[in-house]
Amino acid sequence: MSMQSYLANHIKPGKHSETLLINQLSQMRSDNNQQVFKFGFGQSPFPVPDKLVNCLAQAASRKEYMSVQGHPPLRKSIVKFHAELENKKWDESQIIVGAGSKILLFCIMAAFENVNILLPAPSWVSYEPQGKLAGHKVDWITTSFEQQWLLTPEMLEQYCSKRENKDIPLILVFNYPSNPTGQTYSSEQLKALAEVMRKHKIIVIADEIYSLLTYQNNYSMLDEFYPEGCIASSGISKWCGAGGWRLGFHHIPKQLGQEFFQAVIGVASETYSCAPSPIQIAATEAYQDTKLAKSFLSKQITLLNTIAKHCSSTLRGIGVNIHDAQGGFYLFPDFSPFRERLSSRNIHTSEQLTNALMEETGVALLPGSAFGMNESSLTARLAFVDFDGAQIWQEDNTDVQFDKVKTGIEKLCDWLGTL
Ligand SMILES: Cc1ncc(COP(=O)(O)O)c(C=O)c1O
Repeated sequence: MSMQSYLANHIKPGKHSETLLINQLSQMRSDNNQQVFKFGFGQSPFPVPDKLVNCLAQAASRKEYMSVQGHPPLRKSIVKFHAELENKKWDESQIIVGAGSKILLFCIMAAFENVNILLPAPSWVSYEPQGKLAGHKVDWITTSFEQQWLLTPEMLEQYCSKRENKDIPLILVFNYPSNPTGQTYSSEQLKALAEVMRKHKIIVIADEIYSLLTYQNNYSMLDEFYPEGCIASSGISKWCGAGGWRLGFHHIPKQLGQEFFQAVIGVASETYSCAPSPIQIAATEAYQDTKLAKSFLSKQITLLNTIAKHCSSTLRGIGVNIHDAQGGFYLFPDFSPFRERLSSRNIHTSEQLTNALMEETGVALLPGSAFGMNESSLTARLAFVDFDGAQIWQEDNTDVQFDKVKTGIEKLCDWLGTL
């Protein structure tokens, strides 16, 4: 037996992240000079502010390992920043900094011998593989267009009361504004969910990576209603446009205990050791300069909201089921009103739908099935950020810069019209 086939029998089952795959397909089309509308991959279109780039350049000589938990001035500035912008009441001794919030999500899951992971469908692509890599059972609760893709207290109560082994702790990964739906929760909705969470002692990882990009002011957050069980997850990837810098953090409430906190630090210590030191210095500045952050955020929100509204109202106009985005970079169109017409073209699943769209129009969407939706659900994620934020800053001319997104939406509508 060759070494390769010997190993193949022992490798964990896994799949290439579908978000990266669609990006490669898009790239291949571009390389062949075919037009591509990159609505598949959602990274911030905005540049990191110059001041922070300069700060990072100056910090490049910082070569020491920092503490696993994170540079103390950074933890302090994170707490102050989120108190000022989001009214958070966090404790800096309970913050852990990581090389992106994604690895911290994994550290939380890996700190447990045995937990069950619960995900609303649709949810971001990485939660399920992370739960499985950590050796845990992962369950889904499927939401619907009619319920605005939101988890309801009734659904959560029904799942919890029917669980087989209630002694095993339950982690719910709860992301708002949501990737992929762009939807978020009102304070009444969060309050009602918090009651069920408290009743069943659910550990909630509130993935708030897009919270600062919520389009409305005065939004609510879960730890206001469920401080004792809510681990908040965020970082600089989205609001600060710095995904590739790899810096995120978690706030773990004291009520979950020192033993748990130390177990998470332990996983962090045995995996990434610390977030890169120069990045921690630059991120400290990002969190300290709240004036810069506020003006950067308000400009981004205005642009995102404008283009999101254009996309959702155009698609709604031709009969697609779609809600306006309330934050972040995404819309989640549901093409089920076109099911019969799609069927006649032999398109029965979200993957067949996104493949046909890509091939016939160059519009790249990610299938709903990548986010935990049933294969036959005719849903997809549309990331409306295929524009150059840097150019918009310079030229102050949004109409021209949004052209590409608008043309992509037109192509999508034309294609649906020909069915
Ligand atoms: C919902 C969600 N959570 C977490 C992350 C990961 O963020 P980070 O760059 O901090 O690891 C992303 C990034 O795409 C995301 O969309």
